[in-house]
Amino acid sequence: MRGILCKMNTVTEHYDNHLAEVYSWMAGDWDAALERYRTLLAKTPIDSRPRGRAIDLGCGSGFQSIPLAEMGFKVSAIDLSNDLLDELRKHSETLPVEIIHSDILNYLNTQENGAEVIVCMGDTLTHLPNYQSVLKVIEASARILADDGVLILAFRDYASPLTGITRFIPVQSSSTRIATCFLEFFDDFIEVTDLFYNLTDGQWKLSASSYPKIRLAPDQICEELKSSGFSVTSNECFRGMFTIVAQKESP
Ligand SMILES: C[S@@+](CC[C@H](N)C(=O)[O-])C[C@H]1O[C@@H](n2cnc3c(N)ncnc32)[C@H](O)[C@@H]1O
Repeated sequence: MRGILCKMNTVTEHYDNHLAEVYSWMAGDWDAALERYRTLLAKTPIDSRPRGRAIDLGCGSGFQSIPLAEMGFKVSAIDLSNDLLDELRKHSETLPVEIIHSDILNYLNTQENGAEVIVCMGDTLTHLPNYQSVLKVIEASARILADDGVLILAFRDYASPLTGITRFIPVQSSSTRIATCFLEFFDDFIEVTDLFYNLTDGQWKLSASSYPKIRLAPDQICEELKSSGFSVTSNECFRGMFTIVAQKESP
């Protein structure tokens, strides 16, 4: 049935045409969201690293780039959404954030060793086209990070399929907009449909768009990290997001 009723968009189409303009609204209060990430990042081993370069893969509007820059890192913020990068630009005018419009893997392929921190958080990893791409992110991070440098991966656990009404997830609402997410599980990916009801001229109008995400199991990603020369210092669930902190082992 899939593809007959509703064609899936690519990740880029989904963000450009549907999600980017409401992405930060969906996260709720901007300052509160930033504060949560300030607290989370300050508790990781990155706080003990020299204040060199940090790379934020799939930075969006900057929930991780901004705290990293405030901590004193020189941040390279990578994303494919121009709208979200514009939003980050406005919020980081006085901070050391370099904004780069690029695909994550294309960017990593051009980088040499020397970063202190790499983060790929907020479920960005599951947006990659396949598992092989995730392995490439891990391998490239092992090459680019300095010894003892820190990699943080945060993504939702889609390994166990949701069924029935648990697949409908209320995301955010206001007096003029209601956002719901619907997840449909297939063998190695899920189809994510973001539904928005917007109140326009006294009428509720629906807009919907679907795109694929890959299914990742946190324990399997921890094993891949260890095989690539990282030690996993923590693997915890924070607000529905598995957050894996790994440190590159010295030779
Ligand atoms: C769920 S958002 C997370 C944003 C941010 N890290 C946060 O926590 O709010 C995923 C982001 O990854 C970006 N993205 C997805 N695939 C990408 C790719 N292959 N290269 C660069 N950015 C990508 C999207 O444009 C989007 O901004």
